[in-house]
Amino acid sequence: MKSSNYFNWGKKFLLFAFAVLIIINFFKQISTSNKQHQLAFKYTDTSCWVGAGIYEIPDNIHGDSIRYGRDLIAHTAKYFGPKGSVKPITNGMNCQNCHLDAGTKPWGNNYGAVAANYPLFRDRSGSIESIEKRINDCLERSLNGSPIDEAGLEMKAMVAYIKWLGKDVPINTKPKGTGI
Ligand code: HEC
Repeated sequence: MKSSNYFNWGKKFLLFAFAVLIIINFFKQISTSNKQHQLAFKYTDTSCWVGAGIYEIPDNIHGDSIRYGRDLIAHTAKYFGPKGSVKPITNGMNCQNCHLDAGTKPWGNNYGAVAANYPLFRDRSGSIESIEKRINDCLERSLNGSPIDEAGLEMKAMVAYIKWLGKDVPINTKPKGTGI
């Protein structure tokens, strides 16, 4: 009698443990599918800022500078890497390693809010920074390089590209999908 009682309790305990496992798994599934849904939503959300592509760059002299700026940002190593054609001053990274798709991708550390918010006060330097200063900051810190001439062709081109990308963003606003 006693032993069959124990047996029953053992069975009941096993059933109970199974039920708990099934319930836990059920909730886990709900929460991961929710997360996946949220992620998918985040990347397909049409209210996010998306930068214009290369084929939208105007076909004129100003456009040539913008195109050069885009290429400098996408293929920085070609110009500033250890064997760079302009000046070998960086570690060989490209700006778009961190600013995805040449700084056009939603939630990809893009340049959407730059034109609308610079010159900007930055705590780090305790001063107001221009786009040029911010680019040189990334050249020095992120690409382990040295700053370039703020009045040079390359700086002007990168600034032209970044300003062109953000030209439709109202001043002092940060559209959804910009920043990190
Ligand atoms: C190793 C990663 C990395 C690389 C490479 C890099 N950056 Fe950055 N950059 C960052 C980070 C991180 C920030 C800060 C983002 C923030 O605070 O929202 C930043 C910020 C910026 C900003 C200001 C953006 C804003 O919204 O305030 C500009 C402009 C910029 N980078 C330009 C460049 C350019 C041009 C290059 C290439 C010469 C470059 N970056 C390369 C990581 C990088």
